[in-house]
Amino acid sequence: MYNNYLIIGGAGFIGSHLVEVCYEAGKNVIIYDNFSLGKMGHLKNSPNVEIVKGDILDLKSLQDCINKYQPEIVFHLAAIHFIPTCENDPSHALRINVEGTQNVLLATSGKVAKLIFTSTGAIYNPEVTDALNEESDIKTGDIYGITKLTAEELVKYHVKKERGNAVIARLFNAVGPRETNPHLVPAIMDQLAEGNWHVELGNLFPKRDYIHARDIAEGLFAISQTKLNANLEIFNIGSGTEYTVEELVTLCGEASGKPITIESVESRRRKYDRPNQLADISKITQMCGWRPKRNLKIALEEVWNTEMVNSKG
Ligand SMILES: NC(=O)c1ccc[n+]([C@@H]2O[C@H](COP(=O)([O-])OP(=O)(O)OC[C@H]3O[C@@H](n4cnc5c(N)ncnc54)[C@H](O)[C@@H]3O)[C@@H](O)[C@H]2O)c1
Repeated sequence: MYNNYLIIGGAGFIGSHLVEVCYEAGKNVIIYDNFSLGKMGHLKNSPNVEIVKGDILDLKSLQDCINKYQPEIVFHLAAIHFIPTCENDPSHALRINVEGTQNVLLATSGKVAKLIFTSTGAIYNPEVTDALNEESDIKTGDIYGITKLTAEELVKYHVKKERGNAVIARLFNAVGPRETNPHLVPAIMDQLAEGNWHVELGNLFPKRDYIHARDIAEGLFAISQTKLNANLEIFNIGSGTEYTVEELVTLCGEASGKPITIESVESRRRKYDRPNQLADISKITQMCGWRPKRNLKIALEEVWNTEMVNSKG
């Protein structure tokens, strides 16, 4: 039904998986990215896609891109996503995540069929330990969450004012090849590839909902293909399964085939860690017919086999 797909932040971790999904579905794919973390190498499975190097803070450049390629679907994934980066430079995170999103709204206003904005499951109240659905309580606890919640509010306000069509997709913890930020999985895999099989961590108990980046990409694509009844919809995209940090690291060890040991050390423990974060994915499953296909074990084996096994010997 739609042919022209613009993916803002398409050279990044999740974005490059989304590029592949859209490309394999035969769509005309345009990528808009400033390549601050995105890499050309992430795009090698999707030849012949259009690549525009530009910044979301540059409204004119965004507008030129929209006018030239006339996308029907726009995915907005560009953001400062790593929590320590946001905490170290809150003004920069606010500019990219909030002002950048406002620019995307301005540039796409009245020109596209559907805008899909990627938010995060981290904006849900950490005190809620049941599976989180789209109506669950919201409470942000850091700069990243504040920027994403503010951007969500801008999307909602824009839809109300301009009568556009938008989707807020709240993503849970992505894992898989091509991760750009030094989250737990790349950090552990790097240690294992260096031959360091004794892993020192902070708290081992927190549970998170880990989902393969390709599954997230397929979920975002399914949303783009679904005829929605409301001008604004919110969907969780997670696996619906939780693992503790200890279970995650044990699976990293199994993927690498190394005899790892895990120790929780005082100096690495955070004073506060939300105990869990589990997605209720019934809404997207029912409305868009999507469900994740890959489990955490498969995702970690893929990371090890494609990125680590030959990297350091
Ligand atoms: N990775 C996760 O676990 C996760 C979880 C929840 C939500 N999200 C959200 O999903 C989106 C994608 O996350 P990711 O992990 O792929 O991150 P990423 O950092 O790999 O991708 C972001 C991409 O945007 C580009 N970019 C950054 N600033 C830009 C700017 N000013 N102008 C143009 N391009 C810019 C980067 O070069 C990169 O290619 C983000 O919005 C993030 O907040 C990610």
